[in-house]
Amino acid sequence: MPSNSSGHIVILGTGGTIAGTAAAAADNVGYQAGQLGVAQLVAAVPALAAHALEARQLAQVDSKDMSHALWQQLAAAVAEELAREDVQAVVVTHGTDTLEETAWFLHRVLAATKPVVLTAAMRPASALMPDGPQNLLDAVTVAATPGTRGVLCVLAGRVLGPEDVRKVHGYRVDAFAADEAGPVALVQEGQVRALRAWPQADPGEAAALQVAMQRPVAQWPRVDIVTSHAGCDGALVPALVALGSRGLVAEGTGNGTLHAALEVALRVAQAQGVAVWRASRCWAGGVVGQPEGALPSAGVLTPAKARVELMLQLMLRA
Ligand code: SIN
Repeated sequence: MPSNSSGHIVILGTGGTIAGTAAAAADNVGYQAGQLGVAQLVAAVPALAAHALEARQLAQVDSKDMSHALWQQLAAAVAEELAREDVQAVVVTHGTDTLEETAWFLHRVLAATKPVVLTAAMRPASALMPDGPQNLLDAVTVAATPGTRGVLCVLAGRVLGPEDVRKVHGYRVDAFAADEAGPVALVQEGQVRALRAWPQADPGEAAALQVAMQRPVAQWPRVDIVTSHAGCDGALVPALVALGSRGLVAEGTGNGTLHAALEVALRVAQAQGVAVWRASRCWAGGVVGQPEGALPSAGVLTPAKARVELMLQLMLRA
C-alpha cells in the first residue's frame, strides 16, 4: 500500500512512557512517564518531516491513571479533528498500560471511518534504544496510508485491532498481542501490509454514545471488576453494589467459570438489577458459548474491555 501525505495528520499527545524520561539512559524502569511534549516526540523523528503534521498536547498522564474525564476529553478532541476536511487521520500517543481500554472506548464511541491510530512505547524516550520513535513513525505511516480506517494500535511493527489488542508483557519491547486473531496489518520498512479487514464499529450506537457521554463523568454508570480465585467468598459484590455499582464484570477462571460463592453473590446482585457479565482471566480465548442459565458472557472481550463495554451499554439504557 503506497503512502499518501496529501491531508494533515493530527497527533494528540496524552503522555505515557513514549514521552517518559529517566535520569540514566540505561534505566528502562525507573522513569517518569509523560515528561516530553508531543512536539518534542515528533521532532525526534526526522523522517516525520515528510508528512504534514499538527501536534496538540491533550494531557500528560501515566496511563495507569487514565480517567473517564480524560476519555471524554480525548473522544471529543479526536471527533473534532476527524470532522475537519483537511485532516485525514489522527494519531494518539498514549501509555501502554491502559491503551487497550482506550482503544475499545474510542472504537465504540467514534465508529471512525478515518484512521485513529494509537501508539505507545515500552521504553522511555531517554533510553539507549527507545522504541517510541519507530512506533510513532509507523503510526504516522499507517495513518497516512490510503484505505486504512478505524481505531488501530501500532506497536512493534504490528497493527492490532481494538477488539483483540492486549498488553501481555510488563517489560519486553514486543509487549502486545492480538489473541488468536492476529494483527490486522504489519508495518514493514514504511509500507503497510494489510492482513485482514479494518475494524468497524456500529455508527448508530456511536452517535447515541456521543450524546450519552456528554453528561458529567460522575453520572457515568459505575461498573466494577471482581475476580474469581481460590478462597473467593463473594463478599466484595454486595460492598460494590452498596457503593453504587450498576454493572459487574466477573473475571472468571477458564471459560468464564466462577467460584460457587462468587456466583451466588453475583446472582443476588443481578436480582437487584445490577448487570452482570462473565469474562475470563485467561490471557486469550475469551468466553466461548452461553450455556443455558449461565450468567451472560462478555465473549471475546477481556475483563478490562468488558468493563468499558458494559459501562457504555448501561449509558445507552439510561
Ligand atoms: C503508561 O502506561 O503511561 C506507562 C507505561 C507505558 O507507557 O509503558
